[in-house]
Amino acid sequence: MKETWIQEAFQGEVPEGTHNSVKWQSPSNIALVKYWGKKGRQLPQNPSISFTLSNCKTETSVFYEKSDRFGLRFSFDGKEEKKFQTKIQGYLMENQEFFPFINQLDLDVRSRNTFPHSSGIASSASSMSALVMCLLDIERQLKGASEIDLRKASYLSRLASGSACRSLFPTMALWGATEAVPDSSDAYAVSLESQVNPVFKNYRDSILIVSDAQKEVSSRAGHALMDGNPFAEVRYATARKDVNELLQALTTGELEAFIRITESEAMQLHALMMCSNPSFILMKPNTLRIINALHEFRKETDIPVCFTLDAGPNVHVLYPNDYAELVERFIMDELERFCANGQWINDLVGPGASKCD
Ligand code: PMV
Repeated sequence: MKETWIQEAFQGEVPEGTHNSVKWQSPSNIALVKYWGKKGRQLPQNPSISFTLSNCKTETSVFYEKSDRFGLRFSFDGKEEKKFQTKIQGYLMENQEFFPFINQLDLDVRSRNTFPHSSGIASSASSMSALVMCLLDIERQLKGASEIDLRKASYLSRLASGSACRSLFPTMALWGATEAVPDSSDAYAVSLESQVNPVFKNYRDSILIVSDAQKEVSSRAGHALMDGNPFAEVRYATARKDVNELLQALTTGELEAFIRITESEAMQLHALMMCSNPSFILMKPNTLRIINALHEFRKETDIPVCFTLDAGPNVHVLYPNDYAELVERFIMDELERFCANGQWINDLVGPGASKCD
């Protein structure tokens, strides 16, 4: 597949006077079955499944014009950002074979996130997938093609930042080869939209910001720690089993199974960090307070609400749209006090990447 995409890349002359812009938005995603541990070039050790979010997203514009050499400027929220510029430059240089036309372009990339910078929410999935969509849209215009191949976009997003490959698709995505989904691959994610029960299509995710500090362990370092983790093989086998069981629950809409697998996956991720060498405790006391209060609330009310965690202390509270009012009231009354400056972000499952007018 990779070879064909290289051959298909626009290899021609960029016409003199070319001068245009593209703008895309792409959301963040939250994994239910986690990708934690990789091999080769950003390939996952096990398949993962995620909800695509709506409100937490990156909007990126790329202004481009014909030039006799590659040029790049990057600004975030209107300010030049050298660190991210270096990251993008590195990515483009490493993957020039897919984007040969950039050697004839001057690129001015302007990006912003819709979620607060200090929310502790990683933005690499949304930002890298938005950038890839812009670059492929430029290529589409140069080729005079009508559409962008989402599988190729997912492949290229994966090379930029692993889990970014899952952000492009509506509702839910699966990344990683599994027999249960025939067109699945380690190299790109596929949409699960057509096979998920309607209850999941507007599922809610309220993100409780327990700490707005930078990540304690980068995901790069976290994935690397799996190499020496004594439970690694058991983990990869368990993740495969969780993927199979979750796929079934997603089709039938069985929320009990959904809750059991989702919470177990979050706990496994954190348990793996605790038994890595060196070990990390990424939860904070308030993370545990929230989880305990949530479990009490579920027991008392029978409302099918559950949580998941990313590689940090913030809690994603997940629930069907029908219970939005009751759960939000509970968050305001009982959980908000455990959030840094009372911060939480109300999000829900969304449509994936889209072009901005
Ligand atoms: O895509 P990365 O390298 O930032 O890794 C993501 C790791 C987790 O967020 C913890 C899990 C996941 O599958 O998104």
